[in-house]
Amino acid sequence: MTEPCLKVSDLHVMYDLGSNGFGKRKRLHAVNGASFEIAAGETLGLVGESGSGKSTIGLSIMRLIEPWSGKVTLGGTDVTGVGRKDVRTLRRRMQMVFQDPYSSLNPSMTVEQLLEEPLIIHRDLPKAERSAMVGQMLESVGLHAGYAVRYPHEFSGGQRQRIAIARAMILHPELVVLDEPVSALDVSTQSQILNLLKAIQAGSGTAFLLVAHDLAVVRLMSPNVAVMYLGEIVEAGPSGRVYDAPAHPYTAALISAVPFPDPERQRTATRIILKGDLPSPLNPPSGCRFRTRCPFAMEICAKETPPAVPVEGGGTAACHLHAHGPKLAGRSLMPFIKERLAGG
Ligand SMILES: Nc1ncnc2c1ncn2[C@@H]1O[C@H](COP(=O)(O)OP(=O)(O)O)[C@@H](O)[C@H]1O
Ligand SMILES: [Mg+2]
Repeated sequence: MTEPCLKVSDLHVMYDLGSNGFGKRKRLHAVNGASFEIAAGETLGLVGESGSGKSTIGLSIMRLIEPWSGKVTLGGTDVTGVGRKDVRTLRRRMQMVFQDPYSSLNPSMTVEQLLEEPLIIHRDLPKAERSAMVGQMLESVGLHAGYAVRYPHEFSGGQRQRIAIARAMILHPELVVLDEPVSALDVSTQSQILNLLKAIQAGSGTAFLLVAHDLAVVRLMSPNVAVMYLGEIVEAGPSGRVYDAPAHPYTAALISAVPFPDPERQRTATRIILKGDLPSPLNPPSGCRFRTRCPFAMEICAKETPPAVPVEGGGTAACHLHAHGPKLAGRSLMPFIKERLAGG
């Protein structure tokens, strides 16, 4: 087995919300035991509705927030265990691109300065060589080298995201965390940026963790996907299997909410309506965290946390339906759902 680019094991992340007034600290458990791997040069898509903990995972991999427990390794190097000083060295090997290209680039720096900064911090190069690299990098993300003298406000959203990608890629990192990289862009710009990311990956062999709430984006970009609900990965596996044969009711619900372009198909499509709202992570439901919204919840779901079981066709799902009730044993949920929705 070759070493994965990124390995995340049982990651827990808490936000400290201060004291509750009685001397006890109040903590929000934003990520509750996430584990996954990304192979070198591959993309893993991380999906789930807003507040499920996707950005928190990205930020803790980067050590931009400190994990509570668990382990993250980058190409075998322990990320979680190193001191703050060595985190800086690791930044050379992993970078992050944020959703909002308007706030993520320092407005008082020129494009040249923005792209040069990582080179100045991490590499010892003469100015002329740095400038040449900045020019090349700009061209590789589809911008004129002459744009180097301009400021971020002179560019459109899509162009700014190209600049952010150029800045992330200039040190040839092993991993880039892309946190909703196209969510702020209009649809046609979205596909240009996604195509650019694919081309960059093909040329560089950089692995991506692609955080997105848009399932279509993830399917297009990632051979593998992990689905998050309230701080936990509830299902993971090859994208084709997860999308066509989901084994967790939350995944099935997310997929059923994506409209079909064909109106006839849309009319006959299976829609799974979730009850209620996302519960607060400050007070998550007992047992399975999804059970309060699950149309198929059983008695055991309130009592026991479902273990992740292997799924036919690859990956895992953490749902009691596999061992209890209909005993799906790692099979697709779709035949069961269709039967139930037909009045079974
Ligand atoms: N800095 C913070 N302080 C306290 N709570 C936070 C902070 N950032 C995020 N959270 C909470 O942590 C949970 C996960 O948030 P986040 O990782 O941003 O989710 P996502 O990216 O999936 O929308 C949410 O309940 C959110 O309100
Ligand atoms: Mg987020």
